[in-house]
Amino acid sequence: MKISFKKSLFALAASSALLLAACGTSQNDSNKNGSNDNQKKVLHVGTEATFPPFELVDKGELTGFDVELLKALGEEAGYGIDIKNTGWDSMLAGLDSKDLDIGMSGITIKKDRLDSYDFSIPYYESEGFLILFKDNVDIKNAEDLKNLKVGVQNGTTGAEAAESVVGKNAKNISKYESSGLMFQALLSGSVDAAVTDKPVAEEYIKQNPDSNIQSVEDKERFKPEYYGIAFQKGSPYKEDFDKALITLFDNGKYTEIYKKWFNEDPDLESLKN
Ligand code: ARG
Repeated sequence: MKISFKKSLFALAASSALLLAACGTSQNDSNKNGSNDNQKKVLHVGTEATFPPFELVDKGELTGFDVELLKALGEEAGYGIDIKNTGWDSMLAGLDSKDLDIGMSGITIKKDRLDSYDFSIPYYESEGFLILFKDNVDIKNAEDLKNLKVGVQNGTTGAEAAESVVGKNAKNISKYESSGLMFQALLSGSVDAAVTDKPVAEEYIKQNPDSNIQSVEDKERFKPEYYGIAFQKGSPYKEDFDKALITLFDNGKYTEIYKKWFNEDPDLESLKN
């Protein structure tokens, strides 16, 4: 009696385990790349997370427009996303050494970068740069940078923009390893001005209303740019992410994430063309 009761309990447990397992597999719809949730390939991603609203650390968590968009794209394309705040240089080095699959960091798609990396189709149009300065200096346009101490983030298009005015490696340029360190230098007065991507400059002013930071635009000198997701050269993932991006453009998910971080509707038509 005892034994058979035990046995039947065992049998019950075994069959419910089987049942659960069966339910489990049928619930785990296979994804676009043919894997189910348990065996999703996890892609390793680097970023430099002092670049709000694109990437930032909030209460110990990596977040921002880029971070949410990339996770949604991973979801759509059937990949797990493991994103780490590697810093800018290590992100690029990690792609070079093939330790990272993806760089997602407000990265401008540009010719010389295309020699080393593959890029997704553009996911964001940035309207160029702003020059930021404290209200104790006076700047009318980019020309004025020539006579001032200028801070930039090393290896970025903002650095190139500033150098296009004051000259490459000019003595009055200080290059910082992260966007955050550049902002600190401006706040502390180590530099008179900083040049950075317009949406990031605008966010900085919005978040720091008491910092006496002013901004000026120079549309003649500083042209719009497009951000893309960076992959290793010849990456097998680019195609899946491009497809996923088009899906999110069309199904409203991109717009939802965009509105959350920019408080306005995206111009999807101009992005697609
Ligand atoms: N868009 C600029 C570039 O590609 C700046 C990007 C900086 N990104 C960052 N997360 N700090 O050079």
